[in-house]
Amino acid sequence: MGRSHSLAKRHRQNMLFVLICTLLLFSWSTVSLAMDQGVCPQPRNTKRAPETFLTMTTPIPASAETIKAGETLYQETAKPLACKQCHGEKGDGQGPMGAALNPHPRNFTCGKTMKDISDGQMFWIIKNGSPGTGMMAFPGMPDKQIWQLIHYLRHLAQ
Ligand code: HEC
Repeated sequence: MGRSHSLAKRHRQNMLFVLICTLLLFSWSTVSLAMDQGVCPQPRNTKRAPETFLTMTTPIPASAETIKAGETLYQETAKPLACKQCHGEKGDGQGPMGAALNPHPRNFTCGKTMKDISDGQMFWIIKNGSPGTGMMAFPGMPDKQIWQLIHYLRHLAQ
């Protein structure tokens, strides 16, 4: 009787130990994921756009109006999904749908990474997506709106 009692106790202790380990593991992986997302410079293996796109320059100037139009698209109206869902409201790559993605969404606030990405590269990725990653294509978006978005993304890195 006493023996089975202490066995049951040990079993409970073991279960508690496993539970605590699981909790620790979970919180550790969540923290490390979050840290990785905000990282700057950010690891980047995105495919290079074809040369004709890479060297493109924006046909519209960076006025306050243009940046505002880009902000509206980014935060709300881009279809089928607003950019902030993955890239985050602040552009730091930490949107609600971004956490589970690997590679993580680009951190637009990271000047060190963004300075190596040309306007034409961004134009190509927004139009075609980055295959094999969470970055979807926006094939139906008019060119003018893509340029407005790019001005807004540049503005986030300042
Ligand atoms: C469903 C999630 C998701 C949405 C929505 C999304 N993105 Fe992304 N985006 C990503 C991910 C993930 C990456 C990283 C891709 C990679 O590493 O190749 C990325 C990368 C990028 C890049 C970096 C390209 C490069 O060459 O480094 C740009 C620019 C970009 N996104 C713009 C946008 C814009 C603008 C929108 C809204 C119109 C948008 N994204 C919406 C997930 C998303």
